[in-house]
Amino acid sequence: MGQGDKMVIEKNVAPETMLLPYLRKNLRLTGTKYGCGGGGCGACTVMISRYNPSTKQIRHYPATACLTPICSLYGTAVTTVEGIGSTKTRIHPIQERIAKCHGTQCGFCTPGMVMSIYALLRNHPEPTLDQLTDALGGNLCRCTGYRPIIDACKTFCKTSSCCQSRENGVCCLDQGVNGVPEFEEQHKISLELFSEKEFLPLDPTQELIFPPELMIMAEKQPQKTRVFGGDRVTWISPVTLTGLVEAKFKYPQAPIVMGNTSVGMYAGIKGMRHHARLNFILGLTLGASLSLAQVKDILADVVQKLPEEKTQTFRALLKHLRTVAGSQIRNMASLGGHIMSRHLDSDLNPLLAVGNCTLNLLSKEGGRQIPLNDQFLRKCPANDLKPQEILVSVNIPYSRKWEFVSAFRQAQRQQNALAIVNSGMRVLFGDENGIIKELSVFYGGVGPTTICAKNSCQELIGRPWNEEMLDTACRLILDEIRLPGSAPGGKVEFKRTLVVSFLFKFYLEVLQILKRMNPGHHPRLADKSKSALEDLRPRHHWSTLTYHVNPKQLLQDPIGRPIMHLSGINHATGEAIYCDDMPAVDQELFLTFVTSSRAHAKIVSIDLSEALSLPGVVDILTADHLQGVNSFATESFLATDEVLCVGHLVCAVVAESEIQAKRAAKRVKIVYKDLEPLILTIEEAIQHKSFFESERKLEYGNVDETFKMVDQILEGEIHMGGQEHFYMETQSMLVIPKGEAQEIDVYVSTQFPKHVQDIVAFILKRPANKVMCHVKRVGGAFGGKVVKTSIMAAITAFAANKHGRAVRCILERGEDMLITGGRHPYLGKYKAGFMKDGRILALDMEHYCNAGSSQDESLWVVEMGLLKMDNAYKFPNLRCRGWACRTNLPSNTAFRGFGFPQAGLITEACITEVAAKCGLPPEQVRAINMYKEVDETHYKQEINAKNLIQCWRECMTKSSYFARRAAVERFNAENYWKKRGLTMVPLKYPVSVGSVVLGQAAALVHIYLDGSVLVTHGGIELGQGVHTKMIQVASRELKMPMSNICLRETSTETVPNTNATGGSMTADLNGLAIKDACQTLLKRLEPIISKNPHGTWKDWAEAAFDNSISLSAIGYFRGFETNIDWEKGEGHPFEYFVCGAACSEVEVDCLTGNHKNIRTDIVMDVGYSINPAIDIGQIEGAFIQGMGLYTIEELSYSPQGVLYTRGPSQYKIPAICDVPTELHVSFLPPSENSNTLYSSKGVGESGLFLGCSVFFAIRDAVCAARQERGISEPLMLSSPLTPEKIRMACEDKFTKMIPRDKPGSYIPWNVPV
Ligand SMILES: Cc1cc2nc3c(=O)[nH]c(=O)nc-3n(C[C@H](O)[C@H](O)[C@H](O)COP(=O)(O)OP(=O)(O)OC[C@H]3O[C@@H](n4cnc5c(N)ncnc54)[C@H](O)[C@@H]3O)c2cc1C
Ligand code: FES
Ligand code: FES
Repeated sequence: MGQGDKMVIEKNVAPETMLLPYLRKNLRLTGTKYGCGGGGCGACTVMISRYNPSTKQIRHYPATACLTPICSLYGTAVTTVEGIGSTKTRIHPIQERIAKCHGTQCGFCTPGMVMSIYALLRNHPEPTLDQLTDALGGNLCRCTGYRPIIDACKTFCKTSSCCQSRENGVCCLDQGVNGVPEFEEQHKISLELFSEKEFLPLDPTQELIFPPELMIMAEKQPQKTRVFGGDRVTWISPVTLTGLVEAKFKYPQAPIVMGNTSVGMYAGIKGMRHHARLNFILGLTLGASLSLAQVKDILADVVQKLPEEKTQTFRALLKHLRTVAGSQIRNMASLGGHIMSRHLDSDLNPLLAVGNCTLNLLSKEGGRQIPLNDQFLRKCPANDLKPQEILVSVNIPYSRKWEFVSAFRQAQRQQNALAIVNSGMRVLFGDENGIIKELSVFYGGVGPTTICAKNSCQELIGRPWNEEMLDTACRLILDEIRLPGSAPGGKVEFKRTLVVSFLFKFYLEVLQILKRMNPGHHPRLADKSKSALEDLRPRHHWSTLTYHVNPKQLLQDPIGRPIMHLSGINHATGEAIYCDDMPAVDQELFLTFVTSSRAHAKIVSIDLSEALSLPGVVDILTADHLQGVNSFATESFLATDEVLCVGHLVCAVVAESEIQAKRAAKRVKIVYKDLEPLILTIEEAIQHKSFFESERKLEYGNVDETFKMVDQILEGEIHMGGQEHFYMETQSMLVIPKGEAQEIDVYVSTQFPKHVQDIVAFILKRPANKVMCHVKRVGGAFGGKVVKTSIMAAITAFAANKHGRAVRCILERGEDMLITGGRHPYLGKYKAGFMKDGRILALDMEHYCNAGSSQDESLWVVEMGLLKMDNAYKFPNLRCRGWACRTNLPSNTAFRGFGFPQAGLITEACITEVAAKCGLPPEQVRAINMYKEVDETHYKQEINAKNLIQCWRECMTKSSYFARRAAVERFNAENYWKKRGLTMVPLKYPVSVGSVVLGQAAALVHIYLDGSVLVTHGGIELGQGVHTKMIQVASRELKMPMSNICLRETSTETVPNTNATGGSMTADLNGLAIKDACQTLLKRLEPIISKNPHGTWKDWAEAAFDNSISLSAIGYFRGFETNIDWEKGEGHPFEYFVCGAACSEVEVDCLTGNHKNIRTDIVMDVGYSINPAIDIGQIEGAFIQGMGLYTIEELSYSPQGVLYTRGPSQYKIPAICDVPTELHVSFLPPSENSNTLYSSKGVGESGLFLGCSVFFAIRDAVCAARQERGISEPLMLSSPLTPEKIRMACEDKFTKMIPRDKPGSYIPWNVPV
């Protein structure tokens, strides 16, 4: 195997080893990252190149290293991110552009992104935008919101980086957004965050060549079967078909490993690649070993060459191949593996089955054919492969005249998501009269495998293709395809509805073609129906960004400029070091947790004997080992005699290696006895009065009296689901005892090093000065790396100390999602008293949050929710109360926005309902209730809402709200099955960290004698660019270039007693501390500088040293004066407010529940931005994360409290397909001078809430559908507004047709918590 320019000959590797751990641990190539281990995130993308000696061609393709068995790579070249460029040699143009276009934040996803694009450019040096977004479809990023990554990649496209639409001859570059002029102020407006002129050109001739020695090897080496033996598995790699058949004869039970995307970890016989053949009579024969990507290319080529009539099945397959998985998986997965896996959600099998495909099989006994039909899919022995047989190829017949095939699917996310339901449908008519001769309908997702509506199809033969037939077909199929209420995967009614909705779509599609082919015989498709036909597809992206620079500012002053994240290049080259990238320490151990499988149970016994006897196991820690130190503040560490949630930490296995620790963890035997009550949902907690502490309450004005005076009163509630942080770097820690004087170093991916230090010192019963916590950078956190991280670090430290050896603990994605909680699910109840004109005069609000099994930061979240629930509105009489519900779920914790995204949504839902009751547009009701210029909040803090009102107005103008509202209404009048919605939401985000104490910050600045400067502060670099901003601050203060200043890590050793990084204020607070330190230094050096004003920093530093002047200074900021008195319900809890507004437009497919965000406009007031590129990145990234929260991110729990959604295959965060087709972000011209850092504002969290503009836009579209269908019942929607909820809210004849199960008559698969 070759990587970069290095040849690797590996003689001693276990066949089950995957490429990812091999690269990271054996070769120490840590640029390739672990994000999920299941092919779903793309963080581990590498490029694989294979030379085919027969065709003399080299195939380069992206692959996920986590699913690539090392043995499958014999004779291939593997290119990792290190291989394409580095800061030590030359960086690759992709690496340069992704960094300089601000496409990296935490940088953890960046190497994978770089490699996906690299593989694309190796095949298409000037790709189209579609090819680009397709190539990145399998790569997740949790930070950026993808827009800057798309912008970086667009620079490789031949076409310009504009919208590429040129509708009516006009495009985005020809005019401002909507033709609306930009702000005209004394501040210069800037639209560019980077300059393309400085980019290195892409020169394909400079790329690494395929290693000639591998080519010679492929040409010359005798073709013989290779066998790789291991302790547990043997890997056989035949090189001929005969060899493969023989191997299968010898080992009939061994799986054939092709892409390994389905087999997973178990290795067996390696399959071989085989090609495609067109037979002019029968159809297309595709080799089983072709990758899905190759199948896609072949089909795309064939449909170009053959008449449409013959290619119906090919076209349908092609449609699905565009959305199956991501590019990496499509390049790895084989057609044969896909067919043979017979997954219930296979996208291709329903189409291959309706297309009457046959499978060509081979064994030592010879070849034979079997049909790919329902029997094969059900694995009926009579029509299945025998153990010795292999699938060689698949025949896909041509379609015939009057034969039509269609493909349908609906998933939680449009791309790279398994279908909830999919379908293949085929009809053959006898002639142009449209009498059904053959009908075949297969569904995926509604049974244990792909299933067939055989009897229904049979009954419909001989019927004409008309509405009556459709009606009968729906009833027959619903009767035949029965899905029990408790079916795995849940969403049962949605699935039933999709079954008939797809049928309706097929009916219309075919009717339209019949009409086109034979206009005389078939009725015209009703105008109303046409909109059912087109699928919503992700479209080309374009964006505009507007920020302001002060033209009078000195050029060398970096404040206010879009400076690239200073680690950007290192992120892109893979040189940036994260916790698990640190090399192994001598004799290092690995720790893994054993967690509870029960939500509420007594631990009857724990049997460790078998686990302890396994090779490599060093120790297993239980609560007994931690006696006296098993809890800290409100949190306990390892379970003692009771478990309180699934995922509760019970013991920790310590072993010589990760594999040994994981193996042993599975052998720990715990006997439980379930305890009552089991409380999972908020409703159950309310019923059992299971709360942490008593209610929190704020009251303003006189609510009860006002209710007596208002025109109307409305009561309602909204439920909001939780959210998984899904930071790309899972929880990671490495604890190293120094071996002397009880000193211990903790390297950990945390937001709160001081807390780690405190808790480790506590568990080890030693002073904090012996424990040092170090954080270089964190691969995303969003609030999820505080309390639980410290607990796990403490247990890891305990193990390290006990054994005097370094211990590493890295959670797998599934473990991470199971153990750590996320954003709190909320239930909001409201009673609003309002006037006919929409003024809300009294509001009584109740917030219940699902806190989980321990308190963590939940009470604080509730308090923040109550303080921030007013969002942009003045409610003159307001009572709001909140409770943190104690349940048997993993403890929920801080998450970007900290209670505001939930509280704000509840308020906006209430306002939307008031507007509906008044018959007014919600935007009008929002505006009428908005804070006035000089006003007071419900906790009596004064507020000037000038910027809020300005953001609202600017957003109205920039989005052309009124013109587009009219256009939306026109669209809705013309389209029955597609609806558009448009919503604008304001934002007033109060910023503070809660108290003066928590606002303290400190910094340390050293000047060395060569004039270089080292800056350290208490903030953690989580991707939000705080270190970059801090160097900008030091640069401005010391008037020295940024290149002269360095920031190495955050550590309790250099800056002690710091606060957690979070709450949007890290740059504000630490920046003021750095400013303080720099000013102290300047003051000290002033006499020296004034003596030699033209000297260099080296001159001044040396002179200071010679004069015994200290060149090191501490900076300190004591925190903003904030306070709140909960008894009185008043105070000044916030330092300032970030204001903004967002307008989003969506289109909804009423038949499937799919939605597409067409356009979002965001206007924000960020004060004087320290770094507009970083701030825009924060706003967009947060917005997309918010969009995920409110629309697709859905956690599912079993009725026993087990989290089902434990990886990217089940839990969908936004991917590149979710980026709005148009995105416009602009900043208000800076206006206020404040006592914050250079009058800037922290914007890390606020933008998240604006994602709810998409939620309400979808709601708007759904309301339009309901109105047209004459449904007058109030619409109760909950968050996230998933395809399921959208579809079921767009009630129609199909939703009425489906069978409904009586509540209580079945045990549902999942429970909403
Ligand atoms: C992240 C991710 C996303 C995905 N998304 C989708 C999606 O959106 N839609 C979708 O439909 N699928 C999706 N899949 C599933 C994917 O399509 C299948 O996993 C894949 O096609 C299996 O192919 P493979 O070559 O990797 O099979 P392998 O894992 O190598 O093998 C699978 C099985 O097939 C058998 N087999 C393979 N070849 C032969 C042969 N020639 N003869 C006999 N037996 C054989 C093996 O013995 C094994 O039992 C996804 C998978 C992943 C990992
Ligand atoms: S780690 Fe391989 S795809 Fe996520
Ligand atoms: S930058 Fe993409 S995950 Fe952080």
